Amino acid sequence: MKGAIGVFDSGYGGLTILDKIRELLPQYDYIYLGDNARTPYGTRSFEVVYEFTLQAVEKLFELGCPLVILACNTASAKALRSIQQINLPQIDETRRVLGVIRPTAECIGEITQSKHVGILATSGTIKSESYVMEIHKLYPDIIVTGEACPMWVPIVENNESHSEGADYFVRQHINRLMEKDHLIDTIILGCTHYPLLIDKIKQFTPPHVRIIAQGEYVAESLKDYLQRHPEINTRCTKTGTCRFLTTESESKFQESAEVFLHQKDMLVESISLG
Ligand code: DGL
Repeated sequence: MKGAIGVFDSGYGGLTILDKIRELLPQYDYIYLGDNARTPYGTRSFEVVYEFTLQAVEKLFELGCPLVILACNTASAKALRSIQQINLPQIDETRRVLGVIRPTAECIGEITQSKHVGILATSGTIKSESYVMEIHKLYPDIIVTGEACPMWVPIVENNESHSEGADYFVRQHINRLMEKDHLIDTIILGCTHYPLLIDKIKQFTPPHVRIIAQGEYVAESLKDYLQRHPEINTRCTKTGTCRFLTTESESKFQESAEVFLHQKDMLVESISLG
């Protein structure tokens, strides 16, 4: 069975990944699914994030996707491994589910000079230590320091990215991170919502520190994956379309997503999960 590539996030954040993937691989078809009615995931337990993410993956499989990208660090940190190891063999072992943490960890070795890297992410991603583990598998000598930013996703989801409230919370977490390790020269935005705060993040970060948004690295890694896996690539349809699904109302998704993606006339459908 052939189908579109599924891209999943708890809300709008995954659009920052989809945007870069479509820029690099415009010929493929995509179905984006945002669980906007149940966002944020970042403060939820392992069990709940796993359950919600599995429901989303099953929905995208039902719609024919041979490959699903978890464009959400929290879902990648808490659910990816269980889905790959426990659920995929039972549901359909010929389909694939990939995350965003590994491709981001891979790029870091060539970027940091000081070998001190900071991670800004949701509480769930920081607590899971997934970034520390993935980076250490590849680069054991890099010192990784995390800082959870629980207010950032609600700020983005509520379209408050340019507010004074955003200034306060962005400055607070950047300062805390740099106080924990002042040798950090590279910061990973380990949440797909955070690129929408990039201007403010740059404003409050010391100028020598490089900020890494994941989109381009995930897109490059997907391109490479599809080249190395022709059995999956041939099952991905290529007519250049993109459908958007949300667990919220169509109009609410459309209104906000247009701001994030700078795209008009999106085809949005409201669905329920679970
Ligand atoms: N965008 C998601 C991430 O990359 C999580 C946001 C949330 O639902 O808390 O972690």
